[in-house]
Amino acid sequence: MLDKVAEYSQEVEAYNVSNVEELEQFRIRFLGSKNIIKDLFAAFKDVPNEQKKEFGQRLNELKKQAQEKFDSLQATIGQAKASVTAEQLDLTRPGYPIEVGARHPVSIVRNEIIEIFERIGFTISEGPEIEDDWHNFSALNFPEEHPARDMQDTFFIDNKQGESMALRTHTSSVQVRVMEGQKPPIRTISPGRVYRNEAISARSLSMFHQVEGLYVDKGVSFADMKQVIQYFAKEFFGKTKIRMRPSYFPFTEPSAEVDVYWGLETEADYRMTKGTGWLEIMGCGMVDPEVLKNCDIDPNTYSGFAFGMGLERIAAQRYGVDDIRYFLENDIRFLKQFKGAF
Ligand code: DAH
Repeated sequence: MLDKVAEYSQEVEAYNVSNVEELEQFRIRFLGSKNIIKDLFAAFKDVPNEQKKEFGQRLNELKKQAQEKFDSLQATIGQAKASVTAEQLDLTRPGYPIEVGARHPVSIVRNEIIEIFERIGFTISEGPEIEDDWHNFSALNFPEEHPARDMQDTFFIDNKQGESMALRTHTSSVQVRVMEGQKPPIRTISPGRVYRNEAISARSLSMFHQVEGLYVDKGVSFADMKQVIQYFAKEFFGKTKIRMRPSYFPFTEPSAEVDVYWGLETEADYRMTKGTGWLEIMGCGMVDPEVLKNCDIDPNTYSGFAFGMGLERIAAQRYGVDDIRYFLENDIRFLKQFKGAF
């Protein structure tokens, strides 16, 4: 009997199949409902008692061996089958379309602005979004009782140290950080996120983006500022006519609001410029000597100018978007319409 088991084991070992039919024959012989291993199990009762244990073990091994052999033969045949299917694959069939992502319109506008200023020697600088009172307000010459410090405008942050911290309300805070860490000549722009505690509407968000610009050196004048802003207006908007209206910011003196002449050619131009043809694009001014002093820069030796603009506003103007909330909603149907060079 044990010889018979050894014989079958050898047969299983040596078995080879080349197609599904031969595999089926193997299955019927060794694993089917009337397989030959079962016959041996049936003969168990005739085995002398002292051999029963070994015989049983051998039989179980044989059964396992047959199953494993079957599995491996099946895998081989399966692979052969799969390679046939691969041969039948039609590689000329057009593929499934791949959805290519698009840059966010605010990123397109930011990258373009960065590129324009980099061309004339500006570096990029960044600062923290959670800012202390000094960098966001005090160093920038905001009087203690200035309304911009009010709870309505600023998201204050509780911190255990009792130090007054807030989400920065503008990227002008980066000006201070740059001037504290670097001596003139300074030419830098600071793009980043800012936060204001405002009611959200088609024209205002509580989180938006700004780009701040700063130029400090010996003998920097208002005329230099005008030139740089004019260059920007031409490169970015393709418009050459700008005007400056007197304005007020605590950190610049004198200060101005910059408008670019957009024109009144279409109905949209009328709407966007409220019938004036002029579009406000940024605030600017000569850095207040107090601010320079706060950053350890001598205002008798150095002067500078600064400017700041809101990116959502500019992106809305450029793309004719009438509600800036779209920029934050992440609706793919909205976002995929913008194709920029950057
Ligand atoms: N920080 C101002 C704001 O948030 C924008 C601004 C105006 C920045 C004039 C400047 C500037 O650097 O000179 O509205």
